[in-house]
Amino acid sequence: MMILVTGGAGFIGSHTCVELLAAGYEVAVIDNLSNSKAAALDRVEQIAGKPVRFYHADILDRSALDRIFEENGIDSVIHFAGLKAVGESVRIPLRYYHNNISGAITLLSAMAAHGVKKIVFSSSATVYGDPAKVPITEDMPLSATNPYGRTKLMIEEILRDLSVSDPEWSISLLRYFNPAGAHPTGLIGENPNGIPNNLMPRIIDAARGRTEAITVYGDDYPTPDGTGVRDYIHVVDLALGHIRVLELLAREKGVFVHNLGTGRGYSVLELIGAFERACGTPIRRVVTPRRAGDVAACYADPGKAQRELGWRAERSLDDMCRDSWNWAQKNPGGYPD
Ligand code: NAD
Ligand code: WQD
Repeated sequence: MMILVTGGAGFIGSHTCVELLAAGYEVAVIDNLSNSKAAALDRVEQIAGKPVRFYHADILDRSALDRIFEENGIDSVIHFAGLKAVGESVRIPLRYYHNNISGAITLLSAMAAHGVKKIVFSSSATVYGDPAKVPITEDMPLSATNPYGRTKLMIEEILRDLSVSDPEWSISLLRYFNPAGAHPTGLIGENPNGIPNNLMPRIIDAARGRTEAITVYGDDYPTPDGTGVRDYIHVVDLALGHIRVLELLAREKGVFVHNLGTGRGYSVLELIGAFERACGTPIRRVVTPRRAGDVAACYADPGKAQRELGWRAERSLDDMCRDSWNWAQKNPGGYPD
């Protein structure tokens, strides 16, 4: 059975391709490589010992999509392709709306035209905005505080409308919390372009001396140590969630929403401490005022995914730090061109 993975050369997509191949699926990838390298897919093939059919193309290119659906008997689509930098989305919102929303509409139109009606969509915990309570359950109110988050909310709504218009669709909305870690082989991992935005790649840069210190954005939050608390989830656990949800979509029609998180929150200082244990050297930290738009604490109630998908995250914070450090050490320049 063949799965089309949009954005499959990216961080979460490449790890999901590995798990799809291991589970016996065939994999086609469409990626425009705007935030990734084709070498990631060579590494996926190396880990899995199986081929990936790669299309270097944009999801906004309808004729490329038509060709992919014509050339392959695609059963389902996992839709990762999108731009994801929150700050950039505030500066260039139209690029985000065009790429993410027009991209999703182009993809969904092509799917409908070719009779492919099963899709897993990469949503995000960002759709909960500033949550009224933690842990967060899927039925809590949704809001967005930036254009990136609004693209996720809008695509969720588009998918719900599609399901109302045609009940033949099987749609999964997966709300990821904070993905981290890398494949334990150290062959694939996170490879951000330019200066990273997220905490884990910034800690890595500090640990290997590319920056002088890690900046801690605020230590006056109402949390146990005053720093922000997040639900870091190992990217391999996240990838495995996609395999479980494909099994649900094969059985049932409609829209299904699941949080993919561990259910356990860790503070910025706890993550830095865990990383120091993994890399064996102290990491200098500098506390600055809070970053605009950040919330104090955000972590999942992952119970629904456990009940309905039989999925739970099994890898620890120490596993994430060990695997991220292994990836960083083995690939100091990221992927080759
Ligand atoms: P990533 O940037 O590593 O991967 C996204 C991939 O999509 C890249 O390979 C990029 O080249 C590709 N892409 C972007 N626009 C495209 C287009 N128009 N056509 C074809 N390919 C395109 O990001 P990731 O961390 O792997 O995230 C994957 C998905 O998960 C994204 O939709 C992201 O918004 C979502 N998500 C990520 C996080 C996170 O913190 N990493 C959290 C929640 C949700
Ligand atoms: C984590 C914690 C920061 C950097 C973002 C997106 C979200 C989702 C995941 C896609 C926070 C603190 C960070 C630093 C720090 N992406 N921090 N120093 O903000 O939870 O979520 O990525 O959907 O939509 O908003 O992740 O890794 O940026 O921050 O102290 O240099 O680390 O304040 O508490 P965030 P993050």
